[in-house]
Amino acid sequence: MSELNQPQKAPPAVIVIFGAAGDLTKRKLIPALFNLTSQALLSTQVAMLGIDRVEQDSEAYRQHLSKDIESYVGEGFNQKQWDANVNNLHYMSGDFRNAESYQQLKERLLQIDQQQGTPGNYLFYLATPPSFFGVIATELGKAGLTEETDHQWRRIIIEKPFGRDLESAKELNKTLHQSFAEHQIYRIDHYLGKETVQNIMAYRFGNGTVEATWNHRYIDHVQITVAESLGVEDRASYYEEAGALRDMIANHLLAVLSVVAMEPPNSFAAEAIRDEQLKVLKAIQPFDSEKVLENTVRGQYADGVQENGDPLSAYRNEPGIADDSYTETFVAMKLMIDSWRWAGVPFYLRTGKRMPERYSEVVIQYKPGPNMMFQGESERRTNMRPNHLVIKIQPDEGINMDFNAKQPGAGFNVSRVSMGFDYKDYFNQSTAPSGYETLIYDCLCGDVTLFKHADNIEVCWKLLQPILDAWQNQPTDDFPNYPASSSGPKEADELLSRDGFSWKGA
Ligand code: BG6
Repeated sequence: MSELNQPQKAPPAVIVIFGAAGDLTKRKLIPALFNLTSQALLSTQVAMLGIDRVEQDSEAYRQHLSKDIESYVGEGFNQKQWDANVNNLHYMSGDFRNAESYQQLKERLLQIDQQQGTPGNYLFYLATPPSFFGVIATELGKAGLTEETDHQWRRIIIEKPFGRDLESAKELNKTLHQSFAEHQIYRIDHYLGKETVQNIMAYRFGNGTVEATWNHRYIDHVQITVAESLGVEDRASYYEEAGALRDMIANHLLAVLSVVAMEPPNSFAAEAIRDEQLKVLKAIQPFDSEKVLENTVRGQYADGVQENGDPLSAYRNEPGIADDSYTETFVAMKLMIDSWRWAGVPFYLRTGKRMPERYSEVVIQYKPGPNMMFQGESERRTNMRPNHLVIKIQPDEGINMDFNAKQPGAGFNVSRVSMGFDYKDYFNQSTAPSGYETLIYDCLCGDVTLFKHADNIEVCWKLLQPILDAWQNQPTDDFPNYPASSSGPKEADELLSRDGFSWKGA
């Protein structure tokens, strides 16, 4: 992120998206490319080549994307700009397991290079089901598409989930390294690309007032919540295999935790930042089977009712889900970090589908002052609340500090007030970027800061492996255990209440 203040255009390249007919491409990747073009961050010589099984030509593919692009981009959409750039999107049908497809890909890339003047820089984006990651990387290697020269780079972005446990993640890293060097591999976690997550670093390390109290002396505990109102939608086959632990905790929530809890890096260089994030992940106290029972909660949504009275169906009744599925759609857990900074400070993580609303936030609950002298009378005592710093990741973007203030008038009554920073008051953004914009741009520029090194992924799986094992060995008998459109099972509240806390907003 060397060009933080004056971003330059990303260099010319062809972005090859495997899984071009899938949901991720339509909902996130193409809108991100559109947003990058709007911000003039792409060279006019950046082209996209989509590849997937569906038989269609480029023209049909463009029409398919054009239908929904406006709704996925949102307010910042501009039809003229879409029309002016749509011919940079190309398509070829191919079979990811067939060597012949990679020869065709090679020819097609040469044609695009000649037509659009792209100089042979290729970014391969694997937006496919995880079972294809290894085979695509291997076939690209065999086709000679991964070799770099002084003037041409080749990079690969791997979507999550990166493996489904420690063993498979190691295996995948091994397979990738047979065709790509580590510097060519970009393991993506789109939460790290979100502006509000990156801003945690700016907030912590760019302000003299923050770091002084960012430790166990002043902080009671930390809550990280990623709540979704959507259910499983049309992703049954993926989700039945994944579940919330693999889908969200193994990557997004631990990524946010690593940014909140890392030590200040000694520079803003990629390796310095990634090393500190790795160190803090390694310092999380490991789980054993007893700790899994005590410190984790799993849930699955039952039938429920939306606020407007509309019924919501139980996970087990969603299309493609087994009637007796034990896949978790909700996880809450308590983690402790063995470091001088965080000794004794619990970190509570929570994520779930079909919660009442979609929001992601980090709550830092501060300890009370050492001598709370306003505690003499009952009314004052009840009104006194802990200070909360709330880092709002989405959909509202900003930071709030809740604190106690004297109510005007006679007596000395105290009530809770809030100071807020809202992105929209300061920054002119028509659409909140999804995180993919930053990450695609960084990858084109060769900046690995916000991508994960192999070590990071393996440390996360090592931490979660005992949970995966314990849950598999002891299937729960209480699923489904929370109504759709609720905040999760009661055990998630008990996880905090037995430590004397409660989820913010509960
Ligand atoms: C994806 C998960 O990685 O993140 C989805 O696979 C989840 O299940 C999504 O819905 C959430 O992303 P965001 O940016 O909408 O919070």
